[in-house]
This record gives sequence, C-alpha cells and structure tokens, in this order.
Amino acid sequence: MNEFIPLASRWIHILCAMILVGGALFSHFALRGQWPPGTGLRFRPWALGAGAAILASGLYNFLQKTAVPKPYHMVFGIKFLLALHVIAVVVLACRADSAKQSRLLTGAAVSGFVIVLLSGYLRSLSQ
Ligand code: HEM
Repeated sequence: MNEFIPLASRWIHILCAMILVGGALFSHFALRGQWPPGTGLRFRPWALGAGAAILASGLYNFLQKTAVPKPYHMVFGIKFLLALHVIAVVVLACRADSAKQSRLLTGAAVSGFVIVLLSGYLRSLSQ
C-alpha cells in the first residue's frame, strides 16, 4: 500500500497534465482556438477536476521530496506559478467567447510546454 500511493499520485498527476495541456495544445494546433458549440460546457468539469487533482497530487509529490539540491525550490516555484496559470486559464476559457478563448488557450499551451520541460529538470534534480 505504501508503495502504491506515490505511484497512484504520479499516474493522477500525469493524466491530469494530459487533460489540461493536451486540451490546450489540441485547441491551439487542431482547432485554431475555434471550439465547436457546446465544447466549453462539456470540457469544464474535466478541467475543474483535473485542476484540483493536479494540485493535490503535485503537493503530495512535493511533500515526498527530501534533501533536494539548491536549485530545486527555485525551479519548482516557477513551475508552480506557471501551473496555476494553466489551470486558471483552461477553466476560464471554457466559458469565454471564441476570440478570448483562442488567446487564453494559446497562452496555456505555451506555459504547459515550459512546465513539462521544468518538470523533467526537477525529476533529474531529485534522483
Ligand atoms: C499544468 C500543470 C502541471 C503539469 C503539466 C505538470 C507536469 C508534470 C510532469 C510531466 C511531471 C513529471 C512526472 C514524473 O516524471 O513522474 C511532474 C512532476 C511533478 N510535479 Fe507537476 N505538473 C503540473 C502541476 C503541478 C503542481 C500544481 C504542482 C505542485 C503543487 C506540481 C508538483 C510536481 C512535483 C513535486 C513533481 C515531481 C518532480 C520531481 O520528480 O522532483 N506539479 N509534473
């Protein structure tokens, strides 16, 4: 059981990252920010759920880290702020009009891209 919780947290974290950042990237590249009618309403519960779960699992992951090298906390701080941006923007975009939706989700796609790079770096720092 004790080994299962960190694994479950990792699964949840990565799946939620896929929902949030994948949604933003798909919107930017495939839909050019133009969501078909009703999309925002259907996606909103997923965005809210993924936002809450990625925060909880991320906090858990963070609290599990002991004895990390110096740059870890600085890089984590930047990642955390970008992550709040992605979560807020994806949730808000679900109810925005289409021009604003396009702008918001392009920003989330860029932040999400940077977050994945920073997360990979954090992982290599904490091994
Ligand atoms: C859109 C938001 C986010 C994305 C796309 C994201 C993405 C990722 C990815 C891809 C990993 C690497 C997974 C692995 O190798 O196991 C990771 C790890 C991690 N994430 Fe996130 N994350 C997000 C939000 C958050 C938040 C809000 C927190 C903190 C509250 C957080 C804390 C962490 C921690 C502590 C790790 C482990 C890093 C390490 O191995 O040292 N993440 N995240």
